Amino acid sequence: MAIPVLTIDGPSGAGKGTVSRAVAKKLGWNYLDSGSIYRSLAIAVLKQQLSLEDEGAIVNIARSMKLEFDCGDVLVVRLDNIDITTQLGLENTGNTASIIAALPEVRRVLLQKQKDFKQLPGLVADGRDMGTVVFPDAKNKVFLTASAEKRAERRYKQLIEKGIAANLAQITIEIEDRDRRDSERKTAPLAIADDAIYIDSSDMTVESVIAEVLNLIH
Ligand code: C5P
Repeated sequence: MAIPVLTIDGPSGAGKGTVSRAVAKKLGWNYLDSGSIYRSLAIAVLKQQLSLEDEGAIVNIARSMKLEFDCGDVLVVRLDNIDITTQLGLENTGNTASIIAALPEVRRVLLQKQKDFKQLPGLVADGRDMGTVVFPDAKNKVFLTASAEKRAERRYKQLIEKGIAANLAQITIEIEDRDRRDSERKTAPLAIADDAIYIDSSDMTVESVIAEVLNLIH
């Protein structure tokens, strides 16, 4: 039996995580937050204080790291048996993830870990290259984006709500840097799959994006 896959790709802060989780829950499907795999590797690399240019050492960690995901209401991730959930969302983790995600051999090693999430009754996969590289045969593909200003504003609000000091101008610069790195890298850059539905969420509520995506599946 073919396992249905819905891919949701797009730049940082477009709301992919919130939308993907809600859609997966509604459909009763599995959920892959592929960014958390790159983020977990970033945490391991930072912990070992490796140079971000040492591709060989980073690839070795990517090969040997043991990752466990509990995809309940909140995603819990364990790296080599240690709970790293609270470190996953840090700005430094995301920025480091985006640097090491540009290394071709890292992407190759992490490919199978992502494909393994494709299990019955279905999968919602969120990332940058889900519809183009990891699950090119997915029946439903979405490219979810929003203007850099809107994405920075949302991120700023999230941090403030969590009681974390934040600077909107700095966040905007980081988002633009990350967009550039993710779109301009040679291997699996952020790109819109030919068969993806394009959704610009700049002026949409989360609920209406979720409804539009669910509509696609039905
Ligand atoms: O989506 P998230 O912000 O968690 O991803 C962190 C970084 O991991 C991204 O900026 C991107 O460079 C990388 N990533 C990727 N391919 C994916 C998911 C994430 O290169 N499928």
